[in-house]
This record gives sequence, C-alpha cells and structure tokens, in this order.
Amino acid sequence: MDSSRRSFLNLLLGVTGVGALGSIVYPVLKYLTPPQNAEQSVASVVAATVGELKPNSGKIFKFGNKPGILIMTQNGEYRAFSAICTHLNCTVQYDPEIQQIWCACHNGHFDLFGKNVSGPPPKPLESFDVEMKGENVGDEIVVLRRS
Ligand code: FES
Repeated sequence: MDSSRRSFLNLLLGVTGVGALGSIVYPVLKYLTPPQNAEQSVASVVAATVGELKPNSGKIFKFGNKPGILIMTQNGEYRAFSAICTHLNCTVQYDPEIQQIWCACHNGHFDLFGKNVSGPPPKPLESFDVEMKGENVGDEIVVLRRS
C-alpha cells in the first residue's frame, strides 16, 4: 500500500472515530447537564379570567413548570399561592367545605393566607400577588411572584 493511500485511510479512520466518539459523548453530556430552570424566568402568569371562579372556590394553574392555586374567598377576594405542599411537595387543593387549602397526601391544612394550620406541613405556602387587569368578565387575573 502506498503512503498517500495509507494516510488517506488513517485520516478517514480518524474522522470516523472522532464522529463515533462524539455521538456517544454528546448525548451523555447532554443527559448529565441539568436543564435550564424555566421556573426562575417566570415572574408572572395569567392564572384565570374574571368570571371564571365563583366565591368560595379555587383553581390550580401553572406557574412556570410548577402548580399554583388561585382562590376566590367567600367575600370575592382573590388570593394566590404556590400549590406545592411544604411537607413533601404534593399538590394542594381548595376545600370549600372547610374553606381551607388542603393537602390530600397527609391531611395537611393551610388557611386562606397560606399559613400551615394543621397536619405535618412545617411552613406556610409561598404566597403570590394577584393583579386584576380589569373588572369585566374575561379580563385577565395575573399572578406575580413577590419581590
Ligand atoms: S405532602 Fe402535604 S401533607 Fe404531606
């Protein structure tokens, strides 16, 4: 085999080897690199529209990639919190019968200010600000992270 043919084959083998190694290493590195946390970039979301909630009801919405809960109290006041239970991260829900936020996982209860009032949750729910974009049916209700 002449030397130019041998060099060409060595080059071809080298390029193929680098390509094969890259096709293995890249997916492994991609898998090991944590994804960008979309949650950090989310400062506010439209959680509902006026008229969607009735007094003494709640709604789960997405705050970035995590759940939030919007509540309309019996007096028609809106309150919003993270819907992630501070015990073991289950999603909480609104219980209109007892007018509290309730976690079904271990029977944790939070009052309408997000304060943990019974059960195992060790601290209050993270609370959000609520901003009305209008008073008419269909106007947006925006929930904002507190600064
Ligand atoms: S996860 Fe909510 S009470 Fe345990």
